[in-house]
This record gives sequence, structure tokens and C-alpha cells, in this order.
Amino acid sequence: MAKTGSTLPTSSPELLLPHWDPEQPRRAQLEAGLRDSIRDGRLRPNSRLPSSRALALELGVSRRLVVEVYEQLAAEGYVLPQRGSGTRVAPRAQPVGAGSPSGALAPEPIPALVSGIDLFPGAPDLSLFPRRAWGRALRQALAELPDARLGYGEFAGTTELRVALAEHLGRVRAAAAEPERVVVTAGYQQGLRLFCQLVQGRGGRRIAVEDPGYPVAGWTIESEGLEVVPVPIDDDGIDVDALAAVAPDAVVITPAHSLPLGAVLAPSRRRQLVAWAREHRALVLEDDYDAELRYDRGPAGTLQGLAPDVVILAGTASKTLAPALRLGWLLLPAELAPIAIFGRTMADGGGPRIEERALAELIASGGFDRHVRACRQRYRCKRAVLLEAIAAELPGARVRGIAAGLHVVLELPSGSDEEAVVAAAAAAGVHAQGLGAFTRQHRQPPALVLGYGLPGERELRQAVAVLASAARADRVS
Ligand SMILES: Cc1ncc(COP(=O)(O)O)c(C=O)c1O
Repeated sequence: MAKTGSTLPTSSPELLLPHWDPEQPRRAQLEAGLRDSIRDGRLRPNSRLPSSRALALELGVSRRLVVEVYEQLAAEGYVLPQRGSGTRVAPRAQPVGAGSPSGALAPEPIPALVSGIDLFPGAPDLSLFPRRAWGRALRQALAELPDARLGYGEFAGTTELRVALAEHLGRVRAAAAEPERVVVTAGYQQGLRLFCQLVQGRGGRRIAVEDPGYPVAGWTIESEGLEVVPVPIDDDGIDVDALAAVAPDAVVITPAHSLPLGAVLAPSRRRQLVAWAREHRALVLEDDYDAELRYDRGPAGTLQGLAPDVVILAGTASKTLAPALRLGWLLLPAELAPIAIFGRTMADGGGPRIEERALAELIASGGFDRHVRACRQRYRCKRAVLLEAIAAELPGARVRGIAAGLHVVLELPSGSDEEAVVAAAAAAGVHAQGLGAFTRQHRQPPALVLGYGLPGERELRQAVAVLASAARADRVS
């Protein structure tokens, strides 16, 4: 991306001209270049971008490529497509810079199933774990870590992993990332716990969550002694007007793919949420748990990339590799990183350095990217099998959620007794959850949350047949 002066009144094509790197796809380069220009203010709020035709001509790329890049940035909230007048940079899309802010217990754990078909939505396909590549990475970590680095220390995570994650999150998730602001955590759950402590440290008491949402998030917040404030969510993500109305101190959201409804946070809501957080000095935790698993297009870039001053990005290896690793990370504003590092040090004295180093190796070698690509193919296929089976067994049934992640929501006919259907299916060996199990206050029409990560294709078909007969039996009872 050519660095021109910061006083350009409009976005002339020269401003957008990247220095092409022959090793990287042009689409990704143009997307990253535009995003950076908007973030650092070279492309001003409300300025008009060149038409897709003009820019394509100027850059010597296809018009389709430019259109796709504009669409992607619109989905992330950086630009606004305007009917008849082209595409403009969204108002105040760039971070505000120096103005950043300062500083009921969980039920019994769910027992692992020993038989039957498990449609638990959070479970990845454990047979996909890249044992060979992981073994190689572990051996390399053991060979390269000197004795001196086997002692206490590196509380924020192994240096190599912080570097690898910053590069990865910048490249793949359009995050605004530097290694110094990355803190490695024991899964997302510890990241959320550290977030709660940050909120508490600023005097906050109330954290909003999506409702329906990830039950473990609510339980974790409560176990830190804070109040959970449920906010409704629909197919465009969290309802920001409703959020503003309950005035919490912080909010936890899943903008790339919500659990369980499967929504992407809409561009207008992204901007609205960031404006609200800045105005009220509220912190936002972006739970990016399964964002790399998108099957119809690239995932929406992170909200953190749009507003790194108020958004903390939380990631995990639980969906792309395995929950057993207990490896996750936070990407924080610079002034909050030391507080989170202190929290991690106090919680458990830091993570497992050899495994962290192995993950760094897997990411840096390209093995992680290859593995995620293979996972995407597998899950795309499983999702298609599940949807085909639903269409065949339950014609006309509505399935909610974008083509992403490891779960869908299957709506039941209105008036169905969700819990009765869940119980009948469980009695027949198919273990699914009702939407009610994810809901605190804001009830939705009866539905089932179906995870397709764990079962094989044949099991998915069998499971749908059982669910369909349970749903039919409920209608006649
Ligand atoms: C919404 C959501 N966030 C995060 C996670 C991952 O949590 P962890 O990294 O603690 O395994 C899950 C797992 O089910 C989830 O559903």
C-alpha cells in the first residue's frame, strides 16, 4: 500500500495502490491495504472510494475481486455501500487513538457420553486432531527450548506464540495485533475470567451477554461475582438499542458467528456498538471462538480490528484443534495487557510452555492453516449432509444460522414442546439441546441446537431421522 500524505481529501486510486507481493493473493492484499488505510485515517470517514470498475482498471485486477473486497469491508463495518453513489468510508470507522479508556455457580459438568449420538454444539470433530503435525511440533519445541526457558516466567505466554498469534490474527482475522498485546490463556474460559477481572478493576459490576447465548459465559461471569445482564439477539447479532437501554459496564459478544443462533453482527450494529462503547467507556469482549470455520466465504473480520481501543479479542484453539489443549488468547489495548498478564500470573502462574511453543511452531510453519483448510472442507460436507437430511425428513422446517462453525438451529413447528422433543430423542440415543437451554430471558420459538462436529455423516442422518420422529410424536401427543 503506497503511503501518501494524511491530508488527501478523497480516496484517489493512487492511495489504494498496493505494492503487490507476488507470494500473496491479491484479494487479501487489497482488503488488508484498504482496511489499514481506513484504520490509520489515510482514508477519511465519509470519503468516497473509487468505483469498483475504476479501481479494478487502475490495479489491473478483475472488477469482481474489487466488488468482493468492498462487500467484505462493508460486512465488517469499515465502509458503507450507497445505492447510486458508490461506496464510502463509514463515519468514524477508524479508532479514536489516544482517547482509549483506562483502566450462581455453574451446574455440574456435563458427563461425556459413552454411547448414542452426541449433537453437542461446541464439540469439534476430535478425529481431525492433527496428531502427526502436533507430534512434530512438540518434538521441535522440546529440541529448541533451552533449559533456561524451562523455569518460571513468560507469564503472558511463550514469546514465539505471542509473535505467531499476532501475525496470524492480523492476517486471517483482520485484527490490529502486536505481540506485546497478546496474552495466552487457558482456553477462552480463562480469557473471559481475566476480562471479568479487568471490568471489576475499573469499578464495573454488570456484564451484558447475548440471550440466547453461550451458557458457560454467563456462569463464568457469575462465578466472578458479577451480574449477568441478558440482551436479546436476532439474526443481525446483538440488539444494540436494547444493550444501550440496560447500560451495562461491559459486554461479551460473538460477532463472527453467534452461539447458538448463528448470526453475524451486521455492519450498522458494529458501528453502533463501537460508538456506544466509546461513549460509555464500556469494554467489549469479542469471543471469536469458531470464526475461522466459515464455509460459504471468508469470515467477517474482527470488530477488534475496527476498534482496538475498546474491544478485546478472545480466541481459542478448542474448535480448530481440540478443547483438551486448553489454549486460548486475548488481544488487548496496550494499557490493559499488563493487568491481564498480572491476572494470568496470579491465576495459575502461566501456561504450559512446551505446548505453547508447539502451537507457535504449528502456526509459523503453515501447518495450522493447512489443518484449518482441511477442517473447513470436512465440516462444510457434514453441514450439507445435516441440511439435506433435515430437508428430507422435515420438509419446510426452518434452519437458522449462516454456513459456519459447528452447529445450526432447527426450528420446531410452532406450539411444539421443545423439552419433550429433546427428552424423546435422548431416550432413543440422540442427544441434542433445546434453544431454551441457552436462554435466560428472551425466549425464541421452539427449536433445537444441533452440533454436527462430532458425529459422522451416517450418524447425522440417523440422528435427524430420530429427531424428526420425536418432533412428529410431540405434534400428535
Ligand atoms: C461461544 C463459545 N465460546 C468459546 C468457546 C470455547 O471455550 P474454551 O476455549 O474455553 O474451550 C465455546 C466452546 O464451546 C463456545 O461455544
